[in-house]
Amino acid sequence: MAPLRRPVLAANWKMNLGPTAASAFLESYLSHYAARDDRTVILFPSAIAFSSARHAAEARPDIQFGVQNVHSAEKGAFTGETSASMAQDAGARFVLIGHSERRHVFGETDALTAEKMSRVASQGLAPVLCVGEKFEERENGETNEVIVRQLRAAFEGLLENDASVLGTVVIAYEPVWAIGTGRTAHPEDASAAHAAIRAELSASAGSIGDSIPILYGGSVTALNASTLLAAPGVDGLLVGGASLDPESWAAICNA
Ligand code: 13P
Repeated sequence: MAPLRRPVLAANWKMNLGPTAASAFLESYLSHYAARDDRTVILFPSAIAFSSARHAAEARPDIQFGVQNVHSAEKGAFTGETSASMAQDAGARFVLIGHSERRHVFGETDALTAEKMSRVASQGLAPVLCVGEKFEERENGETNEVIVRQLRAAFEGLLENDASVLGTVVIAYEPVWAIGTGRTAHPEDASAAHAAIRAELSASAGSIGDSIPILYGGSVTALNASTLLAAPGVDGLLVGGASLDPESWAAICNA
């Protein structure tokens, strides 16, 4: 996989935009965002809207696609789940892993996150690993401890892998208290957390760790995107709510 151009602008649509809405979204969005070779755009539609979204962007190979979740097993009797190989077959290149909603709404543990990291990497897909502290953890001064624990756990299954696998990983710092709340992290707080993540990546993965992109997520809007992107250590953005409107998403992609 070729290295990503930075900034990386990623849209997590969560459980929004079905096949029809996804296709209409792309028609509008692509008319507001012309391909640029100084950045990477990645869309994460729902599993059921994935093919429709991808089809609607067929003429735009600059737009990349990922899925929001996969099961940790290769295949089998797991009703309702999607496997990494199915995601790849559908055209995904990226998989979100350890998103706050997976951890805190669906109860996914650090151990399960590690299993998914290995599965996704062994399938040749790029994991986009999300880490971030809850509000109480920040208040207690535990932000770095939580982030480092989540990173170490997730990387456990990966470090024995070769450099080409580590080179595909993307990290998203998403403080739980900033997701969907309108309470964006101050750029200095985002930079501090990104620096802690970078230090851990460099310590555990050396020069490859230095090159892993670290995105910020949590109440990013078209109004604050440029400021956050300018914060030291912020290599891109992972956007929820503001990525659901084609014009606001195009404005963020052009930030
Ligand atoms: P919001 O942009 O809606 O706060 O969501 C962030 C997020 O969870 C992206 O993965």
